Amino acid sequence: MIRHFYLVNLTMGRQFPFSPSIILQALIVVTISCCSINVVEGVIGVNWGRQTSHRLIPSMVVDLLLQNDIRHLKVFSVSDNVLEAFAGGDIAITVTLPNEALKDVMSAEAAEHWLDQRIRRHQVKNINISYVHVGSQPFSTFYHTDTYNNAVDTLKFIQEAIYTSGYENVVATTAHFTDVLKPGIMKPSEADFRPDLKEKMVEFVSVLNSSNAPFVMDIFPIYFVAEHKWDFEFCFLDNKSNFSIEDNGHVYTNVFEFVYDSFVTAITKAGAPNVRVMVGQIGWPTDGYPGANVTNAERFFREFIPFVKSTKGTPLRPGISIDVYIHSLVDENRGRINVGAFQRHWGVYLSNGEPKYKIDFSGAHRDIYPSTAKGIVFMPKRWCVFKGDKRNLTKVENQVRRACAQADCTSVFPGGSCSQLTFDQNVSYAFNRYFQMKSQYSTNESTCNFEDLATVVTEDPSVGTCKFPVEILAAERAETDGLMKRGGAGDRLQGFFGSAIVLPLLSIILFRVI
Ligand SMILES: *[C@@H]1O[C@H](CO)[C@@H](O)[C@H](O)[C@H]1NC(C)=O
Ligand SMILES: *[C@@H]1O[C@H](CO)[C@@H](O)[C@H](O)[C@H]1NC(C)=O
Ligand SMILES: *[C@@H]1O[C@H](CO)[C@@H](O)[C@H](O)[C@H]1NC(C)=O
Ligand SMILES: *[C@@H]1O[C@H](CO)[C@@H](O)[C@H](O)[C@H]1NC(C)=O
Ligand SMILES: *[C@@H]1O[C@H](CO)[C@@H](O)[C@H](O)[C@H]1NC(C)=O
Ligand SMILES: *[C@@H]1O[C@H](CO)[C@@H](O)[C@H](O)[C@H]1NC(C)=O
Ligand SMILES: *[C@@H]1O[C@H](CO)[C@@H](O)[C@H](O)[C@H]1NC(C)=O
Ligand SMILES: *[C@@H]1O[C@H](CO)[C@@H](O)[C@H](O)[C@H]1NC(C)=O
Repeated sequence: MIRHFYLVNLTMGRQFPFSPSIILQALIVVTISCCSINVVEGVIGVNWGRQTSHRLIPSMVVDLLLQNDIRHLKVFSVSDNVLEAFAGGDIAITVTLPNEALKDVMSAEAAEHWLDQRIRRHQVKNINISYVHVGSQPFSTFYHTDTYNNAVDTLKFIQEAIYTSGYENVVATTAHFTDVLKPGIMKPSEADFRPDLKEKMVEFVSVLNSSNAPFVMDIFPIYFVAEHKWDFEFCFLDNKSNFSIEDNGHVYTNVFEFVYDSFVTAITKAGAPNVRVMVGQIGWPTDGYPGANVTNAERFFREFIPFVKSTKGTPLRPGISIDVYIHSLVDENRGRINVGAFQRHWGVYLSNGEPKYKIDFSGAHRDIYPSTAKGIVFMPKRWCVFKGDKRNLTKVENQVRRACAQADCTSVFPGGSCSQLTFDQNVSYAFNRYFQMKSQYSTNESTCNFEDLATVVTEDPSVGTCKFPVEILAAERAETDGLMKRGGAGDRLQGFFGSAIVLPLLSIILFRVI
């Protein structure tokens, strides 16, 4: 029944509340159309994280999304200038109430105020905010202590305020990482929420159940498969894996369906079997880690998007469409790397708006690159390189350290696209990243000096697969105000990768299976 409501919901454009006759009509429409044409496809949305030194301006991103026919976007901030670019309502936005702010929204008044400032103020400008994520992975081991006590209550306050203040078409929910599940399960039917979270999760799903909000899960296949020491091929949906999992007569041939049905099982055990499920983040990093490359990213999405569009569903929810948000739109050269270099390389696009690999967002198996961002202006073709003076290595190392403390040097890390550079090239790479990050020149100091170790050149020093980028002209400066902070993204992997034990283990595993 819930499914039918959902179909109606999408088909009829979220007309709440439904009168019985509308539901009946819609059901007839659905029933008739189901067997002739495609019913309701899963939604393909995209996440846009903005922790980059040179940002695409919001209106460029609107254009980029529309060119690719992407109509759903999630942002991890609630910045006015970002949201205002989406006036017109062509793209449905999910906004995030950051984890840091959960404790500030712990009353009906605070929730009403937040909605007034972040939703109403934008809705009146015809900005289509359709979901509010209350926190991001608040029960993940990483955030646990900060957010555990507030997350469900804040969600309740926000939902109550949505209801009482009459926000039509806005749904509040919260995304969870796979670590809210009991670890070590080998079959979806064994899944449950972690014992220490169980009580909270039961409360959480009952809140979703009573408000008809979806349960949102964030999945990183490369991580989940490595964690379980499964065949790397199990990440992909092209049936090349010889490894499969049988569970009550169902056969799982890929990690996505495994995780999805594990969540379905856990929600069912928590007493709300009909809550619908969405994917808030799924993606494939392309640098800074073994197996993180464009070939694998392309391969992953080549079957994943058609799968989502097919409404095939999973063994436990057959025929039910799945809405997913691809993580992420662009690389974020200022993202955290506490877990690994790959955290800065989730983008389908480089941070300059160039696509990294072929992906057909329509799911039609077209062998195409997505549209390139229009209107990008690159800075002059100038690079900063090491002059080669190694008489004082301490000095060289200090300067590299200084450059990489601010600029993004993750591509030279083991497994990265620039991990094969010579020492001199390494140094040049670091100097150039700093030079570009500083927009090549600054008004008050040279950004290509490094105690006289560096010089500017006009010939591209790129080496093979290792690109020495030139930055784009950014019309918008990166901000560092509190609202820019976010939960989500690959950041959340920290809880697992962060430990000294897991990280080497993981590398071994990944190297072994690749
Ligand atoms: C907002 O987006 C949702 C989801 O795509 C859509 O159903 C709805 O019609 C849109 N609302 C407006 C006012 O455009
Ligand atoms: C979920 O919602 C349905 C319909 O509103 C209700 O019958 C059921 O009792 C709810 N379950 C829980 C666990 O809240
Ligand atoms: C993989 O196998 C499943 C089950 O046999 C099938 O439904 C699906 O279409 C196959 N996918 C591909 C890409 O071959
Ligand atoms: C899977 O099995 C086939 C046939 O037995 C074999 O040729 C292939 O190498 C196997 N693939 C992997 C990844 O082990
Ligand atoms: C990506 O990694 C796979 C192994 O997982 C490898 O076969 C492939 O050649 C790599 N592609 C690139 C472009 O490095
Ligand atoms: C090498 O460089 C460091 C840091 O710039 C400096 O402190 C040190 O005196 C230098 N050593 C020599 C031998 O010049
Ligand atoms: C280049 O830098 C990376 C990262 O610091 C390091 O792992 C690698 O060993 C360096 N390569 C050389 C040749 O020094
Ligand atoms: C140049 O400007 C930067 C940023 O505005 C500042 O941090 C730095 O101290 C300035 N340098 C000098 C030499 O004034």
